[in-house]
Amino acid sequence: MQLDGKVAIVTGAASGLGRASCIALAKAGARIAAFDRDEARLADVCRELGGDVLSRVVDVANEESVSTAVDAVVANFGALHIAVNCAGVADASKTVSSKGQPFPLATWSKVIGINLTGTFNIIRFAAVAMTRNAPEGASGERGVIINTASGAASQGQVGQAAYSASKAGVIGLTLPVARDLAEHGIRVVSIAPGLFDTGMVAGMPPKVSQSIVDRMILYPNRMGQPDEFAGLVRHIAENAYLNATTISLDAGARMQPR
Ligand SMILES: NC(=O)c1ccc[n+]([C@@H]2O[C@H](COP(=O)([O-])OP(=O)(O)OC[C@H]3O[C@@H](n4cnc5c(N)ncnc54)[C@H](O)[C@@H]3O)[C@@H](O)[C@H]2O)c1
Repeated sequence: MQLDGKVAIVTGAASGLGRASCIALAKAGARIAAFDRDEARLADVCRELGGDVLSRVVDVANEESVSTAVDAVVANFGALHIAVNCAGVADASKTVSSKGQPFPLATWSKVIGINLTGTFNIIRFAAVAMTRNAPEGASGERGVIINTASGAASQGQVGQAAYSASKAGVIGLTLPVARDLAEHGIRVVSIAPGLFDTGMVAGMPPKVSQSIVDRMILYPNRMGQPDEFAGLVRHIAENAYLNATTISLDAGARMQPR
């Protein structure tokens, strides 16, 4: 898809991988609808982007919040062509805690609700809007949906039962949703990042994050940078032959139990 003038929703836009995706897509000429639940940081990102940006405080896990926000994007820009799902949380707990307590069901429901249900909630409303686009180019493309999974989908660490399950769910839905949407000319691709230098890992002391890098990442010996993720988002949006797959972006990482 040619990105110039296209309309892209990015969730999790206020931070990390979502913020970088907004910047990369805007540089390529796309008009950005930035969604996040963090109003203050969202405002900072929109100031940074300047230009033709719509920002909405959205809870991706909430049906009405997403439905209203997608309608607002179409009302404002006239169409929707790209949806990038980056909103996510990584709350962790052991299945049985050191005090003998079970994994809190509220934590499980929160992580699955945002990472998995939230991703699908955006997909379904965005896809409806994309079906209304005129087909473009030789392949008659109407839209592209890009999701964020994780290496933890298949290599989850201690405490990551909910997070890993949510991300395995994102990988699992990629093919059937791509199959559902193929007749409408809409592609669906997921990215499985390894360890990226974002707010999600910012809480770690540098010694801990470097030790993870040293033990788990093959080469190059560092965390990924958000613009490396965003570069792949842009490529997926532009490359009409990428569909129904999950791409690992992880410098050959192999996660250990902790
Ligand atoms: N950073 C990494 O190493 C890494 C690795 C693998 C996968 N991921 C995934 O990448 C995605 C982006 O993560 P990041 O590293 O940029 O984290 P981040 O914490 O920097 O950004 C996540 C953003 O999502 C927003 N968000 C959370 N819940 C939301 C909700 N219910 N509705 C709307 N917005 C919500 C937050 O406010 C935040 O701005 C996540 O899905 C994460 O699981 C990150």
